[in-house]
This record gives sequence, C-alpha cells and structure tokens, in this order.
Amino acid sequence: MEKNIAIDLKSFAGFISYEEVMALAKQSVRHLDALNSGTGAGNDFLGWLSLPEDIQKQLDKIEKRAEHIRSVSDTTVVIGIGGSYLGARAVIEALAHSFAPLLRSKKHEVLFAGQNICEDYISDLTEILEDRDYSIIVISKSGTTTEPAIAFRILRDHLEKKVGKDRAAERITAVTDSSAGALRSLADLNGYESFVIPDDVGGRFSVLSPVGLLPVAVAGTDIRKLIEGARDMELITRRNRDAVNNPALLYAAARNLMLQTGRSLEILVGFTPKLRYFSEWWKQLFGESEGKEGKGIFPASAEFTTDLHSLGQYIQEGQRIIFETILLISETEKKVTIALEKDDYDQLNYLAGKRLSEVNHCAGEGTILAHNEGNVPVIRINIPVLNEYYIGQLIYFFETACAVSGYILDVNPFDQPGVEAYKKNMFALLNKPGFEEAGKKLREKLK
Ligand code: PA5
Repeated sequence: MEKNIAIDLKSFAGFISYEEVMALAKQSVRHLDALNSGTGAGNDFLGWLSLPEDIQKQLDKIEKRAEHIRSVSDTTVVIGIGGSYLGARAVIEALAHSFAPLLRSKKHEVLFAGQNICEDYISDLTEILEDRDYSIIVISKSGTTTEPAIAFRILRDHLEKKVGKDRAAERITAVTDSSAGALRSLADLNGYESFVIPDDVGGRFSVLSPVGLLPVAVAGTDIRKLIEGARDMELITRRNRDAVNNPALLYAAARNLMLQTGRSLEILVGFTPKLRYFSEWWKQLFGESEGKEGKGIFPASAEFTTDLHSLGQYIQEGQRIIFETILLISETEKKVTIALEKDDYDQLNYLAGKRLSEVNHCAGEGTILAHNEGNVPVIRINIPVLNEYYIGQLIYFFETACAVSGYILDVNPFDQPGVEAYKKNMFALLNKPGFEEAGKKLREKLK
C-alpha cells in the first residue's frame, strides 16, 4: 500500500502527454515560490499554508472544549455557511458511520444549521431539538453573514427558552474574528467561550483552524491525526520545487492543460457516499477561488456508481467539455463478502467469495476505461484508506493545488468579490437600512 495520497496520470496521458504536464508543472514552481514568499495576489490570506504547524498550540484547548460539549449535551448544532460549514461537514461525513444518526450506541450527534434560509429546515430542526440536550457552535469569520446570523438568532432563543439564559450561554461556543463583527460582540457580551479565526486565513481555507477542528473534535474524530496528515502533505508539496514529485503542482498543471484544450468542466468523483461532502468542500474551494474575471474551470461532483445511472449517460456521450478527477480508495475499513447460493437464481454466483470492494474496484476501472473511450480524460488520485490522516493529506493537497492553479490562471485565488452581488439584492429586497433606494429599483425590475 502507498504511504501517501498520490496522483496518477495513466488515464490522462492519452489526451495530454506526461511531458506537457511536467512542463507546465515545472513552470508553475514560480507560483509555489510566490506563495511561500508572499509575493503573489491575495498575499494577506496565506495563513493556511502554515496552519498544520501553527494550530498545534491550540489543539489542547479545542479538544478540551469538545470534550466539555460532549459531556454536557447529546447533540451539537453547528451553525455556519460556505467556508464556515463545508470543511467540518466534509471531514465528519467522510469518517462517520454511514448511518450515524440511526446508531443506537451513538454518543453524540452533530447537526448543521445556517447553511440555508429554508423555513421548513429550521422548523424541523427545532422540532428535533425539543427532545435533545444540545449545544451550539456558531461559526462566522465576518460575524455578519445573514444565513448563520438568522439561524443563530432562532436557535439561541430556542435554547434560552429551553434551559435558561445562563445555561444557554455556557452551551454556546463562537468561532469568529478576534475583534470585529456582530458575533464577536455577542460572544463578549454574553460570555460565550470563543475561538479566533486568524485574520490571514480565508473561509474556504480554514478547515484546519478551529472553524473545522472544533466541530470535527465534537463529532469524536481524532484531530491530531488529521493535522499530522496535513503536516506530512505540507512537507511533500509546500516547498517541494521538484515538480515530478510534487502532486499539487502536477494536479494544478494537468487541470489547467485541460482548460486550455477546451475542457472547462471538472467532475470530482468518489466511489463512496462518504465523500459526498468532501466533494462539496472541494467545489467551494475551487469554484470560489478560480471562478472570476470570466475564467476558471466549473467544479462539479458525482458519486459513483450511483450517478452512473443518471449523469453517467451525459459523461459518456454528452458535450465533450468534461474531464474527471477520480478519488480511488485502496482499502476499506470494513469487509462484506458476497455469499454462494445453491440455486443461483439471481445469477450472482460468479461473484461468490468476492468482497464488495473488489466489485467496486472493477466498477471504477471499468468506468475509467469507458470514459476514456468516450473521450473523457481522467486524473486519478489514489488514497490508501479513508481515515483522519489521509483526509488531512487530501485537504492540504487540494488547498495548495488550488492556490497554484489560481496563479496559473492569473486570478487572486483568495478573494470572492462575486459573492456580494446576490447579497446586495437580497438586502435591497428586504429593505435593510441603507438599501431602500436599491430596493425600489429592483422591485420595478421584478414587475
Ligand atoms: O470562503 C469564504 O470566504 C466564504 O465562503 C465564507 O466562508 C462564507 O461566505 C461565510 O462567511 P463567514 O464565515 O464570514 O460567515
């Protein structure tokens, strides 16, 4: 078994030669240098580069708070959106039992809020929370984002009515800026335990800060192993100017060559539902970092073999603008073998004695061959096993590759100016103070 996650270009080489990938990867060493010297665009948001090291001193505090939360409550609601939500959910769902909410032996459940404004969702959630002894972790770097702020107002009120204002305050943890924003003010005013999001770490690069680590620790995951994986990947990628052995450079180069040859849609594929939210995290990472100035690859995701029975048709034969990045896991943690049946009515005896992972592996290889035949290049990423350590590696790998890829595209990978457009319109339509005139104009347009 490989020791680290690794990029494999054998199902890609038929479309773009290894030499071309290597040439762009070598040219991109300068982007890695720009990251390390802080001379590239967005250089005030590079704190994530050294998070695996810098976070060490906070791990005790995070673990202690997580232990406390687990000891006083059976459920935690994590409130946040975007970068203040997806990383935690990605790690928790990748490592949790597939039916965690239904596990009778489960000690602590993590639920999410503030990632939408759906009235039914929050109403259903408060209904569930009636019977739960719950805590809240509210996460917002700016401390002013509308969706989590609304969810926090509703759930804070619910919790205060349920257990009283003082006990509610003990059960609320805020993760936010050190001094700015409404959430910081609320935390200081009410004496909530709080954690700081470093100024130089942007939302989608913050999963290895308290933003991701506190909820992940509350879910019962070993955050030290996660950080150890990220740390080892930092050694492999961050200052490694040897392009052949730097998977972040190879991946950034390969996907940009795809774009340069007209393939503007990348699908991240996993062969397990456990990676569903990891793909959501990845989509935000690449989508918000690259999609600007009319540039970027559109990041999509699929879950195979499930989606081979839906999107599979399009991928095989639709518009040829697609390439895939497929996450392949070598070893599963659990074993299920297909039994031999005397009568073989379902005609599956040819599979008797095989493990499901073997069948899944053949489905994977068969899919890659078919998609290659259908003119879809595939970048393989091999993961030895889905555990804390390798998820930590994957996170740091994708973050570094994303930053390099943004620099190849000549955009600032660390801002997201486009996110403001919908917010301004929403505020105007809601008559937020200061937006009244804009509101009038928008209502005219909607007539
Ligand atoms: O990556 C980002 O910066 C964004 O996705 C933010 O994380 C998201 O908008 C939430 O912002 P905040 O943490 O300020 O509530």
